[in-house]
Amino acid sequence: MTKRIIVIGAGFAGLMSALAAKRLINMNFQQTSEPAEDIEVVVIAPEEKLVVRPRLYEENVADMSAPLGQLFNTTGVRFLQGNVESIEVETQQVVSVNVTGVRSTIGYDRLVLAAGSDNILPASVPGLKEHSFAVDHLERAVQLEEHLKNLPLLPAALARNTIVVCGGGYTGLELAAELPGRLAKITGLGSDTRVIVIERADVIGPDLPVDMRPLVLQTLERLGVEVKLGTAITGIDAGGVTTSAGEHIETLTPVWTAGTVATPLTQQIPGEKDAFGRLMVETDLRCPQAKAVFAAGDTACARTDDHSDDDDDDDAAATHPQYTKMSCQHAMPMGRYAGHNAAADLLGRPTLRYSQVMLGTVLDLGRDDAVFVARCGDEAAIALSGAAAKPLKRWINETLIYPPSADDLAGALEAGNPANRTVIPAGLGC
Ligand SMILES: Cc1cc2nc3c(=O)[nH]c(=O)nc-3n(C[C@H](O)[C@H](O)[C@H](O)COP(=O)(O)OP(=O)(O)OC[C@H]3O[C@@H](n4cnc5c(N)ncnc54)[C@H](O)[C@@H]3O)c2cc1C
Ligand SMILES: *[C@@H]1O[C@H](CO)[C@@H](O)[C@H](O)[C@H]1NC(C)=O
Ligand SMILES: *[C@@H]1O[C@H](CO)[C@@H](O)[C@H](O)[C@H]1NC(C)=O
Ligand SMILES: *[C@@H]1O[C@H](CO)[C@@H](O)[C@H](O)[C@H]1NC(C)=O
Repeated sequence: MTKRIIVIGAGFAGLMSALAAKRLINMNFQQTSEPAEDIEVVVIAPEEKLVVRPRLYEENVADMSAPLGQLFNTTGVRFLQGNVESIEVETQQVVSVNVTGVRSTIGYDRLVLAAGSDNILPASVPGLKEHSFAVDHLERAVQLEEHLKNLPLLPAALARNTIVVCGGGYTGLELAAELPGRLAKITGLGSDTRVIVIERADVIGPDLPVDMRPLVLQTLERLGVEVKLGTAITGIDAGGVTTSAGEHIETLTPVWTAGTVATPLTQQIPGEKDAFGRLMVETDLRCPQAKAVFAAGDTACARTDDHSDDDDDDDAAATHPQYTKMSCQHAMPMGRYAGHNAAADLLGRPTLRYSQVMLGTVLDLGRDDAVFVARCGDEAAIALSGAAAKPLKRWINETLIYPPSADDLAGALEAGNPANRTVIPAGLGC
């Protein structure tokens, strides 16, 4: 009887899960003298493409995806177009609705949940849903770009020429640094444009390595981007945003980047979640209370540090555990482990313990600058900055996070090998 691994999501984690599962299934078929069980790998997602989310703050955003049809054909991954509505853990089934509105139920033997995350839109900020833009998903980033291009059609006014980036985290900062260059290219907008970043915390990039912050502030200043720290957005209306300082800043373009939460599908899997709605998973990325379910990418919170001595109270790792972040850098390896382990589990092989070597944090800061902080254990230090960090960012941006070629079956499956370690090409790193 055919067994089935379902992967929900065709993002960074989902793509890698599907390739990793296929890789192990094919290897098993070649290695065992007995005919391998027929295990089908099915990816369910709204579209058969990888949306390159880290580039959604760039211009020409509609192009920021890579087709997956050929790759899935070559590797024998079955694609099912649909939006998953519910997961029934008891009966091991998922219910999805396809683009024509047809609802279908499909059973699984192992499930990999890799349906990503969404912006948090706090209900405490009135007008947020109605009046703000976002760059968390392709459609929303396209909407923002259309809006920016149409601004010159409106009468010149302070509100028209001001962009407010709500949130000074990773995404907000990359967007804010890119905006002056993007606005300058929009003919008819004039040069008196303003970009303002508003961050609730007292520091810029509260989640960024501390070393990065002074450089980030310097670069934003040079780009003419204004920064308001220790300031929360308390309301948004058609003409602007109101801040906790009682100020009303006129803008037609508030862009909300303040915080991300895992897909609501995680709530349908029993077990502990973290503050971002992510499933707390075991060391092999399995859900402790739903043993047939693995989770990867933005849907899962896993430990990244060496936790081999968990019983040892003196162990620094046990007292200061490190966890995955919502990033491609984690989503891709997590996907490889989750897909591999889902297949291994079905084949009666041992699962692998997820582990990951961090490359570091690379922040893009507009047309001319980027900054790269390399991290080793608790130590983080700036390795590259300014124009010197740009080629590294571009390599990540244009090569590392794109799908493997569909023309090479062996290479495509190898992209799913959990033993893969990202190596920065010579000359790009430090
Ligand atoms: C503007 C921006 C900039 C970023 N910059 C960086 C960066 O520089 N570096 C970095 O490492 N990370 C960055 N990130 C974060 C990174 O993009 C995410 O962490 C990463 O995409 C997570 O991968 P994922 O596979 O978990 O989810 P995603 O890539 O979001 O993929 C989720 C998949 O699930 C599908 N899906 C969702 N809901 C359902 C459903 N109900 N049914 C079926 N399918 C569903 C989606 O269509 C998609 O195919 C950035 C994010 C944004 C938005
Ligand atoms: C994948 O294969 C199917 C069936 O053989 C075919 O109809 C489809 O066009 C192929 N898609 C791509 C993108 O190659
Ligand atoms: C939607 O599902 C129905 C029933 O399975 C199927 O006939 C139809 O082709 C599907 N549409 C798309 C676009 O996948
Ligand atoms: C990402 O790639 C595009 C070209 O495809 C380039 O225009 C852009 O500047 C790149 N971003 C960075 C940070 O290098």
